[in-house]
Amino acid sequence: MTIKRELAGRADEVERFLASCLRGRDIPERLLASMEYSLLAGGKRLRPVLTLSWARVLGGDPSAVLPFASGLECIHTYSLIHDDLPCMDDDDLRRGKPSNHKAFDEATAILAGDGLLTEAFGFFCDAGLAGGLPPERVLRATGLVAEAAGAVGMVGGQALDMEYTGRAGVTLEELRGLHARKTGALISVACRAGAVLAGAPEADEARTLEYGRNLGVAFQIMDDVLDLVADEATLGKPVGSDVEKGKNTYPALVGLDESRRLAARSVDRALECLAPYPGEESAFLAGLARYILERAS
Ligand code: IPE
Ligand code: IPE
Ligand code: MG
Ligand code: MG
Ligand code: MG
Repeated sequence: MTIKRELAGRADEVERFLASCLRGRDIPERLLASMEYSLLAGGKRLRPVLTLSWARVLGGDPSAVLPFASGLECIHTYSLIHDDLPCMDDDDLRRGKPSNHKAFDEATAILAGDGLLTEAFGFFCDAGLAGGLPPERVLRATGLVAEAAGAVGMVGGQALDMEYTGRAGVTLEELRGLHARKTGALISVACRAGAVLAGAPEADEARTLEYGRNLGVAFQIMDDVLDLVADEATLGKPVGSDVEKGKNTYPALVGLDESRRLAARSVDRALECLAPYPGEESAFLAGLARYILERAS
């Protein structure tokens, strides 16, 4: 099976959970429609798949981890809704459909993002209260996610992204820091949460974090590359948006070839973290890391 199909198969499991999780909740109709519009619009479900996979590698119970992993997808989806807003990247296409604020309106899009972010923390609590995971593990993983998704992590990265937009003289080091925060932080905590929820020893947890950091940076470098070279229908979001908005990206700073080389170097570092783990599940994580360099969407 190709890694893309394997990823899609694993995403289905997350898909089914997400499709059921907001149903029957007492949420105002238009807000619910807006939240589900983006949450159920597809997407690779990379972050929850990473949590589940690392939990498997480290002896965790994937079915108990699923609600927590799905909460990460709620946070990711909220970040995409807000990222597309006119005051941020001002993009009209997301996951192959009009962006949330285009399909609804700006206020609803902001609130749908707020709603998804907050729901995520409800899912995390459920994973500890009703999901059969030891509460102390869930509590720790939740704290780590709050830090990674918040102002020192993803939100901080988005703030720097806006600050750097249109600015000349941003260095490669600054750009790497930006990518590590805005994309690397959530991807790496997704991996780390798999270890924490599985109750893995510290040395394993450190490797999940290192794998995720490198994967995350490679992922955002290739996202920057795809913004230049991808086909819009396949990508499901606008192509050329970064140049149009004056974003500081890897290709803008070092060119396409060097960007690809730096992404490949990060992927190699991620692969090194898998060395202590033989077996099929670790091979999946290796395939996923390599796939980051080839993906077209
Ligand atoms: C897009 O993330 C935003 C970035 C952090 C680069 P994904 O490429 O994972 O988006 P979906 O979830 O598949 O739509
Ligand atoms: C977004 O980076 C990272 C987020 C935290 C959402 P981009 O702005 O490059 O993501 P896309 O290209 O719009 O998906
Ligand atoms: Mg952005
Ligand atoms: Mg964007
Ligand atoms: Mg992008």
